[in-house]
Amino acid sequence: MTILVTGGAGFIGSNFVLDWLASNDEPVVNLDALTYAGNRENLASLEGDARHVFVHGDICDRDLVDRLLAEHRPRAIVHFAAESHVDRSIHGPGEFMQTNVTGTFTLLEAARGYWSALETGEKAAFRFHHVSTDEVYGSLGPDDAPFTETHAYEPNSPYSASKAASDHLVRAWHHTYGLPVLTTNCSNNYGPYHFPEKLIPLLIVNALAGKPLPVYGDGRQIRDWLYVKDHCSAIREVLARGRLGETYNIGGWNEKPNIDIVKTVCALLDEMRPDAAGPYERLITYVTDRPGHDRRYAIDARKVERELGWRPAETFETGIRKTVRWYLDNQPWVQNVLSGGYRDWVSKQYGNQDACA
Ligand code: NAD
Ligand code: DAU
Repeated sequence: MTILVTGGAGFIGSNFVLDWLASNDEPVVNLDALTYAGNRENLASLEGDARHVFVHGDICDRDLVDRLLAEHRPRAIVHFAAESHVDRSIHGPGEFMQTNVTGTFTLLEAARGYWSALETGEKAAFRFHHVSTDEVYGSLGPDDAPFTETHAYEPNSPYSASKAASDHLVRAWHHTYGLPVLTTNCSNNYGPYHFPEKLIPLLIVNALAGKPLPVYGDGRQIRDWLYVKDHCSAIREVLARGRLGETYNIGGWNEKPNIDIVKTVCALLDEMRPDAAGPYERLITYVTDRPGHDRRYAIDARKVERELGWRPAETFETGIRKTVRWYLDNQPWVQNVLSGGYRDWVSKQYGNQDACA
């Protein structure tokens, strides 16, 4: 028994692979193109572990995917690989269409070919698990109920539109060809190995360097935060026992305005790594808003709890404390990530404003 994971050198994918191999011995074939967001250092603890086979390659490469399926004969594919940053999708949507749409299509077609030829028992057991986002549902008003699985798809950014397209492809491959798929739509993750272009790691990295903490617009946008290891446990549950063709929303019951997140991170750093120059909140800097910025996301995660008994193990308070601690304890990882390519991105995104490096 083996699973094929795509994007397993990224933030959530690497946490998933590490947690998977910590909790059982089923091998993982990890296909990742190592874009700027992929980092083999996340998987350094698996060096020499025969249960982990890393393959540097692109999900859009059909021949490669076909070869991997034929050689390793996985019982499941868990598909994380994607371009994942909304701001990058605004600057350059092309790569999002390529990986998120064409890549998912390529993977589905390869999976269909492989699955169709399996013998009856293996065919019945096979799963294609598509990892998606709450952003496909669009933006909520302040008094709207949280997103359920039947909420209309109303994606607003190139990123969320590309993820919505991929969700539709996965759904269609189930309805038309019978491919045994599962889809999870999750809210904002945070935790170890999070690339510091995203809000929480960016705050920690900038604060420690004495740089501005950029808050888009009025800072009152709301996200529903989930500790990454809880997302990984939810995927394991859905993969094991989810109903075929179903979608499960995954969230932390943790709605917070961005400015509260910023202040919480500042307070934790004041406690764990006080700065002689004064409280970290002095670095908060309001900057131009993200174009088309979604105001509020919130996940109704009752279905996955009702059907599979899954609930997050961490509260926001415990998860964010662990996260800040992890960044303080893993400065070599942070310094390696802050490469030339990262600096180019920061100057493109924040360059003309009085925030960031
Ligand atoms: P990430 O950007 O940190 O990692 C993406 C990984 O995919 C990287 O390792 C990258 O090298 C790899 N990749 C990109 N293009 C590829 C290609 N063409 N072929 C092979 N590998 C490729 O992303 P993440 O935050 O870990 O997100 C993983 C998945 O979870 C994505 O599908 C994302 O849409 C979804 N998701 C993320 C969040 C979140 O808060 N980060 C929340 C919900 C859902
Ligand atoms: O909701 C799930 C999604 O969460 C995932 O699908 C995406 O892959 C993931 O990147 C994340 O998207 P967001 O756009 O919500 O995450 P980000 O960390 O980029 O931003 C979180 C909020 O913080 C958002 O309202 C924008 C704001 N923000 C972000 C940055 C980078 C700032 O105010 N300042 C910043 O510098």
